[in-house]
Amino acid sequence: MRITTVFITVLPLLSLAVPAAAQQYTQFEPMALAVADEDLTSAQGDAIRRGAYVARAADCTACHTTADGEPYAGGFAFDTPFGTIYSPNITPDDEHGIGTWSKADFTSALRQGTGKNGKHLYPAMPYTAYTHLSDDDVDALWTYFQHVEPQATPNKPNELMWPFSWRAAMWGWNLLFFDDGRFEPDPEQSDLWNRGAYLVTGPGHCGSCHTPRNIAMAIQSDNAFMGNTIQGWHAPRLASGDGMGLEDWPVDEVVQFLTTGAASRSAATGTMKEAIHDSLQYLDDADLRAMAVYLKSLENRDGETSVAKTATATPDKRGTSPSVPSPASAAGTPQAVRVGRMPPPAMSIGEHGQLTKGERLFMDNCQACHLQGQGMPGAFPALVNNSATAQKDPSNLIRVILQGAQGVQTQQDPTVLTMPDFAWRLDDEQIATLAGFVRERFGGQPAEQARIDPDQVAELREQVHP
Ligand code: HEC
Ligand code: HEC
Ligand code: HEC
Repeated sequence: MRITTVFITVLPLLSLAVPAAAQQYTQFEPMALAVADEDLTSAQGDAIRRGAYVARAADCTACHTTADGEPYAGGFAFDTPFGTIYSPNITPDDEHGIGTWSKADFTSALRQGTGKNGKHLYPAMPYTAYTHLSDDDVDALWTYFQHVEPQATPNKPNELMWPFSWRAAMWGWNLLFFDDGRFEPDPEQSDLWNRGAYLVTGPGHCGSCHTPRNIAMAIQSDNAFMGNTIQGWHAPRLASGDGMGLEDWPVDEVVQFLTTGAASRSAATGTMKEAIHDSLQYLDDADLRAMAVYLKSLENRDGETSVAKTATATPDKRGTSPSVPSPASAAGTPQAVRVGRMPPPAMSIGEHGQLTKGERLFMDNCQACHLQGQGMPGAFPALVNNSATAQKDPSNLIRVILQGAQGVQTQQDPTVLTMPDFAWRLDDEQIATLAGFVRERFGGQPAEQARIDPDQVAELREQVHP
């Protein structure tokens, strides 16, 4: 539960007249295990804790707990083009939850997307990834969820239009797009790599945001980790190749990002911030390192035919691997753009002659914290060599300007820094001009590509402040 944050110290940047930069400190409260103390100290305590760890790695809470709801009581709304789906109550309550479910019902919900009495689940529940879960992990989850405190919260009925309201249709979807199968380790790869591959493609379901989907909302396994925009945020390409993805990130920095949400090339924002807050920060260092090693091995190099570096994780029925991007698909991926690896700009803003509109807006609104784009290590992220400014998809940059940003509060780093929001101060035209300037100057994007249409800002503004 997040308690109200309190402003304590204004950063020692007063000379720069920082508008609202404040360091916020609150006691960090680890996410509740939602299990009675006597259960945790019972003979089954260790098994329950193991299950809680898997539940965190799988981030069950992200979708089954609402901001002000009880743990796992459901009610989280998923807006789809076909209507709204609500996540159900998965506490062991007999009437409203899964109290009357058998272990077999629970297992097939996770691995096959088929719940009690053969009910077909929508793939908003990531069973396409959880199908990789090992027997041990499913056992652990089952033990844990039997001990979670029951909540008598009724389920909300979905509001889907026909024919999407017809669950049986998912049978056909599964036939076309779903590959039922456990994770199979690759003997050619190290144990560390295999552990990482399991965590990323199984419980971590990282591909559900980072991999593009087709028109039927199915994950494109031959484009794995090539980036995707979902829920108004762009989950960037992670697969390496031609300077893109995590290619230039040292393993340590990936680990640091996954643990704290702060790395020199990226500050976690949007849905990723939540994934770190609710899930990744709780994982053991060895597991995070394993994930980083696996992610770094993913390659999708234009024009090359070999993906030898990334051996197959789990073959699917189309003969490709769900975790290995195919080289053929790289060139056409719309989000792919070389991440700018430039030194901070030599010419300071406004040094020579007249300011452009973009420069003026940057000086007035951003420079106090981000300086000339180089930021301040440990406080304000650099905008140079940053994935938010170098991505072709401008969603995250525009959203951050509209709604501000705040670091992830973690057990390791309970102090968070805040960027104010500018939605009230800048209009669509100004934000488009400013963001275009930032993309060109700091993101290293060609002028034509960097440019942003004010309509796109208007659209995101609507999402942020409906
Ligand atoms: C990305 C979001 C998401 C995550 C993560 C997620 N779920 Fe779900 N889950 C859903 C949605 C949405 C549904 C309902 C789908 C439907 O109505 O067909 C669902 C349905 C279920 C059901 C079926 C319940 C019923 O009453 O039919 C179970 C059981 C379940 N989830 C367990 C879990 C567990 C355990 C985890 C973690 C290992 C988990 N879920 C993680 C979104 C998610
Ligand atoms: C709910 C959607 C979602 C899920 C699930 C998700 N991510 Fe992300 N991820 C994002 C978004 C959005 C961003 C971009 C914002 C940012 O940089 O924080 C991002 C950014 C990242 C970055 C930084 C990349 C860059 O260039 O800035 C890494 C690394 C990453 N995610 C790894 C992971 C891993 C590993 C997992 C699985 C454990 C995962 N993500 C699951 C949405 C998601
Ligand atoms: C008061 C200080 C402050 C001001 C002014 C400010 N920012 Fe920020 N900005 C921050 C902080 C702190 C973060 C990191 C938040 C986090 O950790 O999520 C940030 C994050 C960002 C990010 C995300 C970087 C990433 O790695 O994902 C972008 C892009 C950004 N700012 C651009 C701007 C622009 C453009 C302006 C001017 C409109 C601006 N900022 C004004 C403090 C500021």
